[in-house]
Amino acid sequence: MSHADDHEGTRRDFLYYATAGAGAVTAGAAAWPLVNQMNPSADVLALASIRVDVSSLEVGSQLTVKWLGKPVFIRRRTEEEIAEAANVDLATLIDNDARNANGVEGADGGDANRSLAPFGGGENTGEWLVMMGVCTHLGCVPLGDGAGEYNGWFCPCHGSHYDTSGRIRKGPAPENLPVPPAEFVDESTLLLG
Ligand code: FES
Repeated sequence: MSHADDHEGTRRDFLYYATAGAGAVTAGAAAWPLVNQMNPSADVLALASIRVDVSSLEVGSQLTVKWLGKPVFIRRRTEEEIAEAANVDLATLIDNDARNANGVEGADGGDANRSLAPFGGGENTGEWLVMMGVCTHLGCVPLGDGAGEYNGWFCPCHGSHYDTSGRIRKGPAPENLPVPPAEFVDESTLLLG
């Protein structure tokens, strides 16, 4: 049974209708009371896996959703962002590890090892980057949309700069932003968990 089949249609899935930016956060906030009314075991199960509709996410924008109580950044990258991420000498990385939970654990920090493949096993153009929005220094939520010296994310707490692949490039954070278990279950629906 594939990972997708394993999740398909089970009550563990929490359908997460999100549009973009702040709207998604609002949708998440509204959803929690509903989940909390369920019994404890159902609560835990519901949060273990969520589905996110990314159909309205434009190239060059990102969505933040809450999963397991933490923010997850879903970015639809521009060609420039992808090229910038790909053209990095891996020897210059602070953390040359993919930090990707999707079957590439231990792979190097090349951008191709961090971006998410599209639905159906098509060519991975690198357009989709999904990662935990939690700074690996002390856990703040980094700012996005081209922030910081490497045009990716910036954590103002103590000055950690992440590049367009979410890799730590400068500052005290020791590791790249981790890529959580994620896959596309159709053209526009992302399953987290
Ligand atoms: S928590 Fe991000 S730099 Fe310290």
